[in-house]
This record gives sequence, structure tokens and C-alpha cells, in this order.
Amino acid sequence: MFCRCHFCRGKLKPLVNMDQMLKKARANHYAVAQININNLEWIKAVLNAAQKSNTPVILGVSAGAGKYMHGFGNVVDMVKNTIAYNKITIPVALHLDHGSFEACIECLNVGFSSVMFDGSRLPINENIAKTNIIVKLAKKHHASVEAEVGGIGGSEDGTVSNGELASVEECSLLVKKTKICCLAAGIGNIHGIYPKNWKGLNFKRLQKITEATDGIPLVLHGGTGIPEKQIKEAISLGVCKINVNTECQLSFAAATRKYIAAKKDLDLKKKGFDPRKLLAPGVEAIEQICLEKFTMFGSVGKA
Ligand code: 13P
Repeated sequence: MFCRCHFCRGKLKPLVNMDQMLKKARANHYAVAQININNLEWIKAVLNAAQKSNTPVILGVSAGAGKYMHGFGNVVDMVKNTIAYNKITIPVALHLDHGSFEACIECLNVGFSSVMFDGSRLPINENIAKTNIIVKLAKKHHASVEAEVGGIGGSEDGTVSNGELASVEECSLLVKKTKICCLAAGIGNIHGIYPKNWKGLNFKRLQKITEATDGIPLVLHGGTGIPEKQIKEAISLGVCKINVNTECQLSFAAATRKYIAAKKDLDLKKKGFDPRKLLAPGVEAIEQICLEKFTMFGSVGKA
């Protein structure tokens, strides 16, 4: 399958789903990064970092970010056109992050190549039933589905839970009764910045979930600020997709602050107020974080 847009005239790959990406990662003991995007600056930065380093990448879009970008359809167009415009050749999946049932359907219909149905707050049987409906629809679109069992800590776009550990039995049941691509399961991870007294990831629970889920790729949410040693251990135990959002936002904000603190925006001669200049350090900072994460996750050169 190749892109049919007028920029590349069939030479570029369109979006891919996560199936092959994650199977390959699981088999070769590395993790693919899901980097959440917020606007055109994010899309450019993540794709550039991935292309430069020959790294497969998943662009995550939360419901809130989709709304901010004026709709999921707009996101699909921006991402596909940016891929074509920049002649991006690495595999790129466009993935709904923590989707409601309705948002999953909408994203599949407008061209996302992957969705996460987050039924983690539903009773397990309802989670399984709804996941199955989404999997069936996704199949028609050649898209992949991530499902979740148990809460993941912290807060993200209204998704709040207490970082509890996922039930091993529920993980096993969901994987047995659905044809999902990958599974997110709470192992003490938290969205956002980890508190100072955070106990770290629970590898005992991860080990048990891995043993009970028949080789399914496992997903680690809350990738911001997890020490490298723990990332590596999680990968060795079956995690092959790691989500990162907050760290890019923090680095973008810090770089923009530095530019403004240096009063560069006030340089009228150099037109330092031009958004293409004002936002450039932030874009570079996101690229830098992406490269660091790709290296840490072992996915550089795996496109
Ligand atoms: P962080 O914001 O903690 O990096 O988590 C991102 C995430 O898990 C998106 O689903």
C-alpha cells in the first residue's frame, strides 16, 4: 500500500498500523515510542527525529489534543501531508490515545491506523465486549487496537486513576477473548511527573502479566521520567511500546521560556516575534527528547 497524495505520487508509504512494528519489537527486545502530538510543531519534530534516526514511531493523539487540533480528521490530514511533504519513509502509526468507544469509531472512520480503546474503568466483561466491537471495526480499516486493563496513575485529559496494579487474571482474560494488538496494564506507572516518593515499576506484577498473556506486546504508559534502568528491565519483561507525552511538553516550554527570557522575541530587526523563530527552539527540544527516548528504548535504526 502506498500513498496516493499529490506530493509523493505513490512513492511513500501511508500510515501503518502497529501490528508488525510491535511484533518485531517484541521479538528483538526493544520498544517503539509512542510520542503524543499536540500541533504541527510536534508532528514535524517527532517525524524529523524518527526519520533522522531511522526509527519506527507511533504518533499518539489524546481526545483533548484532537480537539485542540480541530478534529481527528484534521490530525490525519496534517500528519499524512507532513509525511509526504518531508518524504518520510520510516513506519509511522497514527494512534488514538485512551479513546472512548465513540472516539475509537470516529478515528477509525477518518483514517487513524490504530486506536486505544480504554475500557479500564468498565467491568471486565463490558471492557472485553466493547473491545471486541472496536477490534472488528478496526479490522475492516486494517487498523490495530490497544486495550487496557486496570487503571494507570495520574491524570491525563480527564483520565484519572490511582496507579493501581492491573489484575493478572483480567489481563489474561482480555487477551484470550479479544484479538488486540497490544495490552496496557498498570504496573505502578503514572501519567505526568512522578512524585518524589514513587515506588517505581512493579516488576513482579509485570512478570506475572507477561506469563499470563501469551507473548502479546505490552504497553507502558507514563514514560516521562522513568529511569533508564527500569525502562530496560520493563523491555526485557515484554514491554515493547512506551508512551511519552509530558517530557516533550516540559522541554518545549523550557526552550520557549529561554528564548523569551533572552528577549529574542523583542528583537524587531531580526523579527524574533515571528512564530517560525519563536517556536523553533521548542521544536528542536522535542526532537532532542525523541532522540533520547528512541535511543533508550533501543528502537534507533529499526525502521
Ligand atoms: P507521560 O505524559 O507521563 O509521558 O505519559 C504519556 C502517556 O502515557 C500517554 O498515554
